[in-house]
Amino acid sequence: MPDSNIEPTTQRRALLPFLADGHSGGSRSAMTCIYRCGNACAHPAPNTTENEYLGDIATAAVSRRGVLQAAGAGALVLGTGAGSLLGGQSAAAAETSGMVTAPGSELSFKAVAPNKLDALVLPPGYSQHVIIRWGEAVLPGAPAFDIDNQTPEAQAMQFGYNNDYVWFLALRDRDDLGLLVVNHEYTNEELMFRGYTSGDTATEDQVRIAQMAHGLSVVLVRRSRGGEWRPVVNGSRYNRRITAQTPMRLTGPAAGSDFLKTALDSTGKNVLGTLNNCAGGLTPWGTILTAEENFNQYFAGGDGAPEADKPRLARYGIPTTSFKPAFGYRGWEKYDERFNLTLHPNEANRHGYIVEIDPADPGFTPLKRTALGRFKHEGADISLASDGRVVAYMGDDERFDYLYKYVSDEPMRTDQSRGARRHNLTLLDNGTLYVAKLTGNSPPSEIDGTGTLPSDGAFDGTGEWIALAQGSTSFVEGMTAEEVYVFTRLAADKAGATKMDRPEEVQTNPRTGAVYLALTNNSARQVVQVDEPNPRPFNRHGQVLELVDAGSDGTALTFGWNLLLVCGDPSDPSTYFAGFDKSKVSPISCPDNLGFDAAGNLWIATDGNALGSNDGFFAVSLEGPNRGLVKQFLSVPVGSEACGLEFTPDMQTVFVAVQHPGEVTGASVDNPASVWPDGEYARPAVVGVWRSASGSKRIGV
Ligand code: FEO
Ligand code: CA
Ligand code: CA
Ligand code: CA
Repeated sequence: MPDSNIEPTTQRRALLPFLADGHSGGSRSAMTCIYRCGNACAHPAPNTTENEYLGDIATAAVSRRGVLQAAGAGALVLGTGAGSLLGGQSAAAAETSGMVTAPGSELSFKAVAPNKLDALVLPPGYSQHVIIRWGEAVLPGAPAFDIDNQTPEAQAMQFGYNNDYVWFLALRDRDDLGLLVVNHEYTNEELMFRGYTSGDTATEDQVRIAQMAHGLSVVLVRRSRGGEWRPVVNGSRYNRRITAQTPMRLTGPAAGSDFLKTALDSTGKNVLGTLNNCAGGLTPWGTILTAEENFNQYFAGGDGAPEADKPRLARYGIPTTSFKPAFGYRGWEKYDERFNLTLHPNEANRHGYIVEIDPADPGFTPLKRTALGRFKHEGADISLASDGRVVAYMGDDERFDYLYKYVSDEPMRTDQSRGARRHNLTLLDNGTLYVAKLTGNSPPSEIDGTGTLPSDGAFDGTGEWIALAQGSTSFVEGMTAEEVYVFTRLAADKAGATKMDRPEEVQTNPRTGAVYLALTNNSARQVVQVDEPNPRPFNRHGQVLELVDAGSDGTALTFGWNLLLVCGDPSDPSTYFAGFDKSKVSPISCPDNLGFDAAGNLWIATDGNALGSNDGFFAVSLEGPNRGLVKQFLSVPVGSEACGLEFTPDMQTVFVAVQHPGEVTGASVDNPASVWPDGEYARPAVVGVWRSASGSKRIGV
């Protein structure tokens, strides 16, 4: 590949070898397991229920063809990205404008080959520029980044660590000016602080810097004529840091519940900080939704919590038989006692929510929406049903956990009045929370764990949305509505939801209305546990599920589904690429985040490529003869996860968040596995990618 496609790095140091040690069922290193998920894979999956695997259920169902026909009906739907704010053009208008055209347009780029380079690798004809790195200024007056002189006060004004989900919100309908909103999912202390060993010896400054490196950043960005985006710090009234200490409010039916009260907050409505913000969503009224995922890893002292609380803590992956986790102990409670569950057992109940934020209002108090349930939220994709009610699809990213849906009681108001804004900010407080039960339509004997398609030619079937609660009404026997909202996993267990292979991001195709779910992997699924939606045991590569609610209406209580992709090396007979010729597709492993391009092609960001290569972005044709054609668009540097996957409304930039570069077991600041992007040590950063060759400027097609 031409050198111009590789972000230049000066490799001044000998790099650690890439250690693929097989954690997570993917290639993520032990360091990833420790920090990102609180070493989730080293423990039994927290879902110990007997909820059925689908192998023993077979019913007549919607065929795959039926699913696709239903998808074509296409209700008004808002999908990923392309938000527009403050300009009079609603996000809905942007999504349904000319930006979404030409179904099935061919993916025009040359696929990037799998590789292990310490670089962001693009197809020929594309260019890149780092927009903002960990430690660079977000707020005016932020000191210049100095890895040897970090302070909590500086970090609170600088770009946080481990940039994950990215939103771009165009300002005043301009294509060259907007707000970049970025999640900072977690911190890798070994890669942040020289000489760091563990939470046992973490200093107070290190803990407080890490807390300030969590949360979100809001940064005004401007595009130059050359295509490069640059942050605007001085003069921007929008720039903001949100951290693990930012005051927030709990809203909705569980706000004020006894389960949410602590010594610091007798109201059960006020909470500090948002933790482990993974992916998210965009609302049609211009706010963003950020998802609190592996919040369990920040807590210690579960062994001293009241006995009655322990099963609930354990169901969320918090150790209850030891003071601290065996791996990945962060030591936060040493300097911030609310993270000590022996002293404050309810503090954990105040995290694990979808948080709504208006990035256009720097004074906006973030709102934790209890009506959308509490679990390890991956994200919340918002669409509108035909009657204007809001639908949010949500994954719970844990092995054997569930897919959820929320439907608001009231329709969205589309006028531009203040009353409409107030109304729309109540939509995520009043509604019904559902969990998904999926049924396969092939005989269980034909789902044998080899990945061989059943005789009807598809892993497919039907499903139902089981209501868990609406307002103060619980539909789960033995649980109050408050219990359903705060201990949602336990409610879904009782409801008999289907245990899935780590449900990650869910996105609705703005062109067709079909819903896509990334199921990233599941190393723990046994042969006897395979079912039609999760057809492989010891699933290292994941699958992508296509779902259409009955009548293509998000308020429906039933749906049809099929597996679009069963991922892996195409030469592996257990893989499936929607029937497309497997000799012509890129290998793909561990789908995580999803998006759509101008032609309605599905884009996939991967996390944990278990095929031995770096993660990346992939595009998949969904319609016509190329349905199932997967092409790799880019790859990210050694040890990193491909995040962001956000397009500008004109589709001329895609934002790439390179999360945890160099996250390899044994790596440190002084012994880095990656030196991306600057050549000395690794720094998470957000990159803008654009098409620099002559001809079309649209990404991908
Ligand atoms: Fe943060 Fe589900 O990945
Ligand atoms: Ca079938
Ligand atoms: Ca991710
Ligand atoms: Ca992930």
